[in-house]
Amino acid sequence: MKYRHAFHAGNFADVMKHAALVAALARLTEKDRPLFLLDTHAGRGRYELADAGGKAERGIVRIAAAGIEAAHPALARYLAIVRALNGGGPLRAYPGSPLIAASFMRPGDRAAFCELQAPEAEALRREFRGDERIGVHVRDGYEALGALLPPAEKRGLALIDPPYEDTEADFARVAEAIVAAAARWAQGVLMAWYPIKLGATAARLHRRIVAAGAKRVLAAELCVHPDDSRAGLNGSGLVTINPPWKFAEDLEKILPLLHGALAGPGQGRCAVLRLAAE
Ligand SMILES: C[S@@+](CC[C@H](N)C(=O)[O-])C[C@H]1O[C@@H](n2cnc3c(N)ncnc32)[C@H](O)[C@@H]1O
Repeated sequence: MKYRHAFHAGNFADVMKHAALVAALARLTEKDRPLFLLDTHAGRGRYELADAGGKAERGIVRIAAAGIEAAHPALARYLAIVRALNGGGPLRAYPGSPLIAASFMRPGDRAAFCELQAPEAEALRREFRGDERIGVHVRDGYEALGALLPPAEKRGLALIDPPYEDTEADFARVAEAIVAAAARWAQGVLMAWYPIKLGATAARLHRRIVAAGAKRVLAAELCVHPDDSRAGLNGSGLVTINPPWKFAEDLEKILPLLHGALAGPGQGRCAVLRLAAE
């Protein structure tokens, strides 16, 4: 595997994915019942923004300077998490999804973070050493969905965020995995991130999930380039089965704010798509 998330950390796609994750976790923690949080492709948890080159400049650095955090509590919370990791000083470090998830955990919550690359998993383990609520597993994240779901807690969230090194195969695998996970865990919030390089590929992912019979399916997309431009990564997508209450409305406020700050004038698009109802 060549993929290193450090080369992408804090880019516009991370911003979109993590702001949405914060919005979902904020909704889920409105009730005090215990949660189980599963991150199937967790990464190392903490990144140096300098390693991502200019991508972070066009992502989290731009968002931190945009003055949009007062416009939605989830944006304020997301930026507070990023700033806390930097001790309130200039942004040098960036939190991955496990650090973001852990920042929401209460004493009765539990998490499993899976990462296949041993050095990444070792770094992640160091982040949570001594925290008995959190298990770091060096294991295949897709396999973990079958092994760890449904959890005893009943409520919670699973994030599926693979590297898409083999894009077509990963799209098929993600569709199959999220639908199977929803069948195992009827009350769980199941989220999968996907890259938008060609709009048609994303539409095919949506069709696969809906055709498999999934209900309550929401997709959120933020593009900073036209869907089919040759820029490489044109947009960031997140499909959610069983979204938390008010999550769609949160995204409808958050995405235009992110889009306004991240895309050039007249560039790209954002949308919240309700793909399947009850
Ligand atoms: C996109 S990154 C994850 C980023 C992280 N979720 C975040 O938002 O901060 C994908 C990660 O999945 C890991 N990985 C790749 N294949 C895997 C597999 N089958 N099971 C678990 N982890 C895997 C990679 O090593 C990489 O660290």
